Amino acid sequence: MQIATTINEVRANVKAWKKEGLSVGFVPTMGYLHEGHGSLISRARAENDKVVVSIFVNPMQFGPGEDLESYPRDLDKDSAYCESLGADLIFHPEPEEMYTDGFCSYVDMSVLTEELCGLSRPVHFRGVCTVVNKLFNIVQPDRAYFGQKDAQQLAIIKRMVQDLNMDLEIIGCPIVREEDGLAKSSRNTYLSAEERQAALVLSKAVKLGQELVAAGETNAKKIVSEMSALIEKEPLARIDYVKAVDGLTMQQIESVKEPMLVALAVYIGKTRLIDNFMIS
Ligand code: PAF
Repeated sequence: MQIATTINEVRANVKAWKKEGLSVGFVPTMGYLHEGHGSLISRARAENDKVVVSIFVNPMQFGPGEDLESYPRDLDKDSAYCESLGADLIFHPEPEEMYTDGFCSYVDMSVLTEELCGLSRPVHFRGVCTVVNKLFNIVQPDRAYFGQKDAQQLAIIKRMVQDLNMDLEIIGCPIVREEDGLAKSSRNTYLSAEERQAALVLSKAVKLGQELVAAGETNAKKIVSEMSALIEKEPLARIDYVKAVDGLTMQQIESVKEPMLVALAVYIGKTRLIDNFMIS
């Protein structure tokens, strides 16, 4: 497995693979990999001849006061993990390689980015769309793999690919959870032991929402308010949002419909965690 730090190195590899008619699967990440990323890499391994993983903590998707500086990083561990899963190439650029002096071109999306995480993180999706677009241009994958845990991000990337006629397939993969239900996240590492326990309230709320839908509840507001009430009982939790939205447009809905995304963002202490479930 090779670790490339420059765009030219990646391009040279991909060009040689394409010349041989090999397919390329791509897993974009910000590193500090866990089994959630592992499931994406394994799926990419199973479905493509070559697998590229990018590890890049993208400054453009962090707002002022967010955790860009403290975001966890461990390239050695990540490389060993990628190698063990059969990845062929890691792309690990410095910010200067991705954003050269005078950089001023962005991918901006309306509608889908204006709800949920887009409200509390106003610059986030512009940064995500821009970097993912750049990474797609560099890696030129046939398929790219994203986790359903970042459900809004996944919907946005699918929309971007459709709107901008990008020639690749976007594949969403299920949320991977700890045994006790907490969704795997690189940010779980910020939690103290007490906060780690409190964080279970997110997956409990998801389970409650799913049970309500399974029991035939059709009022989306009721589902959201019962989930919120459960979270509010946890003293270390502070709700950013709990919302039911159309699974494609990310606009709020009143009644259960398909596809529907019920998404939540909750601060546990200073750490903002997200979770969701989808009805489709
Ligand atoms: O989901 C992430 O880790 C990031 O948002 C992504 C897609 C790698 C873009 O920086």
